[in-house]
Amino acid sequence: AHQWRGVIREYADRLPVTESTRVITLGEGGTPLVHAQKLSELTGSEVYLKVEGMNPTGSFKDRGMTMAMTAAVASGAKAVVCASTGNTSASAAAYATAAGLKCAVLVPEGKISMGKLSQAIAHGATLLQVDGNFDNCLDIARKLGESYPVFLVNSVNPARIQGQKTGAFEVVDALGDAPDIHVLPVGNAGNITAYWKGYKEYSAPFESDTAGTLPAVSTRTPAMWGFQAAGAAPFVAGHPITEPDTIATAIRIGNPASWDGAVGARDESGGLIDAVTDEEILSAHRWLSSKEGVFVEPGSAAGVAGLLKKHAAGEVPSGKTIVITVTGHGLKDPQWALRTEDGSDVKPVKVPNDVVTVAAELGLEEK
Ligand code: F0G
Repeated sequence: AHQWRGVIREYADRLPVTESTRVITLGEGGTPLVHAQKLSELTGSEVYLKVEGMNPTGSFKDRGMTMAMTAAVASGAKAVVCASTGNTSASAAAYATAAGLKCAVLVPEGKISMGKLSQAIAHGATLLQVDGNFDNCLDIARKLGESYPVFLVNSVNPARIQGQKTGAFEVVDALGDAPDIHVLPVGNAGNITAYWKGYKEYSAPFESDTAGTLPAVSTRTPAMWGFQAAGAAPFVAGHPITEPDTIATAIRIGNPASWDGAVGARDESGGLIDAVTDEEILSAHRWLSSKEGVFVEPGSAAGVAGLLKKHAAGEVPSGKTIVITVTGHGLKDPQWALRTEDGSDVKPVKVPNDVVTVAAELGLEEK
């Protein structure tokens, strides 16, 4: 029986690794591409969700972290560091454990979800809550990487982008060609940069480090559509934002590290980067869980929110293939599911230990 071997082994001839590389993996990648029935009906296009919450630590970050941690080990590092809004720290902590390295993570105090915080702690990372936002954390992490003996595993490390580009490979491998449009949330902008790199590499002959020239796999590349939270939308503003704010803490970022990568992806692909409000994000979050059966964290719903917004504006073509990366699992930040549309708390109904009352509460009549 074949078991998925993780993105490095599955795509070794398209990554900067050799046969002697010690691969640090938790079996990431190979995530489902789920046909989104209701979004497809709504738009008249075939819409698919690349469900990245199915990765080992529950987000797409694991694709990049397997490469970053493999590079850290190859460099002889003893410790790694990252700044994070939560998912990168969860991933770094888990992969550092697998590699036998120490891990330090810097997170903005009070602005990361409980699920992500508990992952970093559970995997034994040293977690410091910084009195500042993600951008401040990343500044410190970069300086630590430059001037102290710690290996930086944020996506400013090109190994991360290399690993994350495999998301695009998997989409093409599943569909048989690239989609017309690829939609995703944008925060620090590593992922849109990585997907675009992956799509470009798959659409032309590729000079492999280890396997000669590989033929093109796809006939085309998609338009890249990125969506930011309205309170943290530097690409829409055209400049960094000093005080980013959104309930989608994963993408609460004002000064994205991969600025040029995201602008390149947008412009070379004939795509766009737009913003969605927190209300639109929560509404898309609800759409995914209640109509498609896919539970994501709020930040992950920004792409779907963007597609819904563009559809409402009459700007989503029908008859096309559209893939949306939903980046992280709903269990990362489950509190948002327990709020109703008007913002009040959902209160589970209490019933006595009695089948007749339970049946009545469910509106059932005896057969
Ligand atoms: N979705 C989720 C769930 C994320 O955690 C992130 C980024 C993004 C989308 C945006 O991706 O940064 O590549 O544009 N999270 C980072 C972190 C910043 O620290 O976990 P991006």
